[in-house]
Amino acid sequence: MSEHNTAQSSDPQPVVGILGAGRAGTAFARTLLAAGVGVDICSTRPPKALQHHLTIYAPGANPVRPEEIAVRTRQQGPGMVILAIPQEELDEVEPEWIGDSTLVDATNTWTYAGEREPLPGWLDAAVTEQLPSSMAIAGHFSPARTVKALNHIAHSEFDDAAGRDLPMTQRRALAVATDDDQARGLVMGLLVRMGFDPVSLGPLAAGRVMEPDGPLFNRPLQREDLLPYAR
Ligand SMILES: NC(=O)c1ccc[n+]([C@@H]2O[C@H](COP(=O)([O-])OP(=O)(O)OC[C@H]3O[C@@H](n4cnc5c(N)ncnc54)[C@H](OP(=O)(O)O)[C@@H]3O)[C@@H](O)[C@H]2O)c1
Repeated sequence: MSEHNTAQSSDPQPVVGILGAGRAGTAFARTLLAAGVGVDICSTRPPKALQHHLTIYAPGANPVRPEEIAVRTRQQGPGMVILAIPQEELDEVEPEWIGDSTLVDATNTWTYAGEREPLPGWLDAAVTEQLPSSMAIAGHFSPARTVKALNHIAHSEFDDAAGRDLPMTQRRALAVATDDDQARGLVMGLLVRMGFDPVSLGPLAAGRVMEPDGPLFNRPLQREDLLPYAR
């Protein structure tokens, strides 16, 4: 066996946790699994009940209980968890489950028929002040290293938009905003592996333009479209 093969076979498969196994969470899981990344995923359902859903929507993803979401990813280093549950459910997630892992905030604040989804008080106050929701999420889940990413692309476009075989210049660009440079590097590396062209917008506050009323939301973007928003 060559030295290269030996090194590969001894590398553990990276694992990412995903909180939420709905439309967004399973789309992220499918793309991660296709890119050779292991996925632990949870929902409100116990793992055994979730398994059937995953067989259909994210075959190969490993169902876990919410409190176990970061266990395997943290065995490999700092760990990474993607937040893909509705914001109104965020008080059900205990920050200590995530610890100081990288937390990819893929959530959005939704308004239905002119009414905002009912939010936890700490988040409602920030959103009412028109602050980026990810800034309140970063405070609530501290010491997790929050990165705003993956929220501005629709689940229905995700599988086709991931272009692992495409050169970077032809890939769909996705924005990343965070105050933590180490976490920024990890998330940008993961997005490259998934088949996207990640563009850093700078600090977490810059992620405001990624939200549902912002100019980057649900638009098929290339790197040039994102660069004017980078700080
Ligand atoms: N849909 C999109 O295109 C898209 C794209 C990017 C980002 N987002 C954002 O991602 C978030 C989720 O959206 P979605 O469309 O995926 O919603 P969804 O289809 O309704 O799925 C929500 C998932 O979260 C799970 N969940 C709810 N409360 C939970 C809790 N307390 N603990 C563990 N899991 C819990 C649900 O569990 P059960 O399955 O057991 O009910 C379900 O699997 C939203 O903030 C949304 O804005 C959505």
